[in-house]
Amino acid sequence: MAKRTYLVFLGVPGAGKGTQAQLLAQALEIPQISTGDIFRYNLKHETELGLLAKSYMERGELVPDAVTVRMVAERLGQPDAAQGAILDGFPRNLAQAQALDGMTAPHGGVAAVPLIRVSDEEALRRITGRRVCRTCGAVYHVEFNPPRRPGLCDLDGGELYQREDDRPETVRNRLYVYYKQTSPLIGYYFCKGLLVEIDGAQTIQAVQAELRAVLERKGVQVPQTEGTP
Ligand code: AP5
Ligand code: MG
Ligand code: ZN
Repeated sequence: MAKRTYLVFLGVPGAGKGTQAQLLAQALEIPQISTGDIFRYNLKHETELGLLAKSYMERGELVPDAVTVRMVAERLGQPDAAQGAILDGFPRNLAQAQALDGMTAPHGGVAAVPLIRVSDEEALRRITGRRVCRTCGAVYHVEFNPPRRPGLCDLDGGELYQREDDRPETVRNRLYVYYKQTSPLIGYYFCKGLLVEIDGAQTIQAVQAELRAVLERKGVQVPQTEGTP
């Protein structure tokens, strides 16, 4: 079977995983799969999955593994993921990481795991000013990455909104859950020789340039595209 490119993005809430994954996905022509975005989409459309995820997300807790793992397995099986995918927000604990290993093993496994490092203070500043497009999910920041027209998405003119779980109480618990459950994955992927660390405390373009440089060193070729930093 042909080798696919699977990348896993790690970093605290607000580190810039989604922002960077979106830019890289365009260049690699593989989808960005954000479990958080899939849950939010289901929430908006009031599906059974959305209603189940709601209570966990509102508290900043993880949605149960059985649900999340099945959802990712289905998503990875869709035609647009035939060459691989950028996983943004999955896995988030060891059980999910082992499940992903099983899913990707027939295709060469995970190729690299970029860890975007920022301080908790910077992450909080980024989360507070974040705005998201209701239509396409594109991510902006009122100060650091403003849309051309206030409140409207550059890509499709969709309305920008603030995520429910970006309230300060919930953000604190999301950080707690990250350190307790997700941060052990840093050691997990380090031991597999897959971890690459990126300094996230730079401009969005500079982070993207560093990301592409370290990925190339891991053997992941990133084609030059329009807007390449
Ligand atoms: P999820 O949606 O994954 O949220 P998260 O991990 O908390 O991460 P964020 O999306 O908040 O941050 P990000 O790193 O993507 O930053 P962004 O690029 O937006 O998960 C939400 C919830 O869903 C979870 O709490 C859980 O309940 C559930 N869930 C999801 N996955 C799950 C799983 N696998 N298992 C179980 N439950 C799961 O950037 C942040 C802001 O900063 C933006 O405004 C951006 O414009 C700005 N910014 C980005 N980069 C820069 C820069 N370099 N300089 C200045 N500003 C920047
Ligand atoms: Mg995100
Ligand atoms: Zn949009």
